[in-house]
Amino acid sequence: MVSVKADLKEIHAKHIRLTPEAYEFLEKNEISGEVYQKIILSDSLFVTKEMIDGLLSSQEKIPTKPVSVARSPDFKPYAKEYSANFRLIDRSDITGKSNCTGKIEDFVAHFRNRFERVSKILRMRMAENTIVTTKQLKGSQGGKVRLIAMVTEKRPTKKGNILLNVEDEEGCAKVVIPKDTDAYKLASHILLDDIVAFDGKNADELFISDALTWPEIPFARVQKKTERDIGIAYVSDLHFGSKKFLEKEFAHFINWLNGSEGKRELAGKVKYIIVCGDLVDGIGIYPEQEKELVVKDIYKQYEMFDAAMEKIPDYITVIAAPGNHDAVRRAEPQPAIPRELIRSDVELVGSPCNVEIEGLKHLLYHGTSLDSIIAGMGGLSYEKPEEAMLEILRRRHLSPIYGDNLIVPEERDYLVIEEEPDVMHMGHVHKNGYMTYRGTLLLNSGTFQDRTDYQVRVGHHPTPGIVPVLETKSGKLNHISFMGE
Ligand SMILES: [Fe+2]
Ligand SMILES: [Fe+2]
Repeated sequence: MVSVKADLKEIHAKHIRLTPEAYEFLEKNEISGEVYQKIILSDSLFVTKEMIDGLLSSQEKIPTKPVSVARSPDFKPYAKEYSANFRLIDRSDITGKSNCTGKIEDFVAHFRNRFERVSKILRMRMAENTIVTTKQLKGSQGGKVRLIAMVTEKRPTKKGNILLNVEDEEGCAKVVIPKDTDAYKLASHILLDDIVAFDGKNADELFISDALTWPEIPFARVQKKTERDIGIAYVSDLHFGSKKFLEKEFAHFINWLNGSEGKRELAGKVKYIIVCGDLVDGIGIYPEQEKELVVKDIYKQYEMFDAAMEKIPDYITVIAAPGNHDAVRRAEPQPAIPRELIRSDVELVGSPCNVEIEGLKHLLYHGTSLDSIIAGMGGLSYEKPEEAMLEILRRRHLSPIYGDNLIVPEERDYLVIEEEPDVMHMGHVHKNGYMTYRGTLLLNSGTFQDRTDYQVRVGHHPTPGIVPVLETKSGKLNHISFMGE
């Protein structure tokens, strides 16, 4: 494309008015002949700098191969000597199984399935003979019992206690949590739709509870390790196609995997990479997103992703789940990104799903519900996504607040955390964070997108370019930064 200097006299002669910013820009810069022609033929009263920017960005060459790779000839990766040990747990993944038509019956079946499976987790942890249903409450007068139920309403009473409306499969009940009990402090964390076990006594029409329990995971678990000394790298929120995609930093990550940067021993252990959603920035995800995109074609965005994946060494298995920016249905559970969009050698899975890697149970979920958990519960923030992840884990449900996050009421609730994971991996909040809780590693893998204007406005500080890598034999979690030169 030929660059030209705009002929300001010609523009003036054609009675096209330039704003001072546009005049200054054209005086100092060359533009493509095509953009110049568009300015000359413009029927706008004024040509502004923003209009010129718009014309220039639509001219930008689409970078389908953004990542150049430097391979190190003497790099002898340990992971190359082994075949992959990876398995998708099919029943955990909605892909190809969605049969919801959105009828009332679907919602009833969905909630019944959620209640059955979460309450089963609670029952497994308690002596069966103390548990009653809402229907059996009246017959338990005076005796100490446990009631497992879903919270449908929560409000303070005039006396400063907490009053809950709860439901189970047989009916509903009112639960009072007195202010001078241990349960009262925990009750501030109760969210609507939480399924909780209440300990207490029935008195007239009220169940007075002084202790409560979330489904949780068993106390005595320890972190699981493996025989083989393998590395798993966790990434998410790459946002290919966004102007803020950190191309240079991502190239550092790819080069590191190819043995061309520091920490080569660890790089050589990496046998798996999990990409936990928002592979691309997508289109039409939020108003005026076009302004933030360098590539406005969803196919091209995935071509950029493919081009980057092809630079990853062949012996590494890449597993990719979708996020809310990807080209699958927004509502959860999300099926895998279709093969028509991703051609590279990547295992495509849904969100959420369970995968076993080297025998370690991984729960992969993009993390869209983190927004509603953080907004709905006091004491949580985007600064520590792992704390919000813990609240999710102890509820054994990935999106506990129904309605705040789009959910398809499938007959089976795929968002129930049926098995205790060894690793629970999420993204979405663009902030690295981790903790180990009762043997489960809770991990948020940050992003490769620079801070967006929206994040500046809301005061959110992302942590781009930092990749957590787990060494499965020792259980050590490393954080490798690809920021800087
Ligand atoms: Fe994202
Ligand atoms: Fe996201």
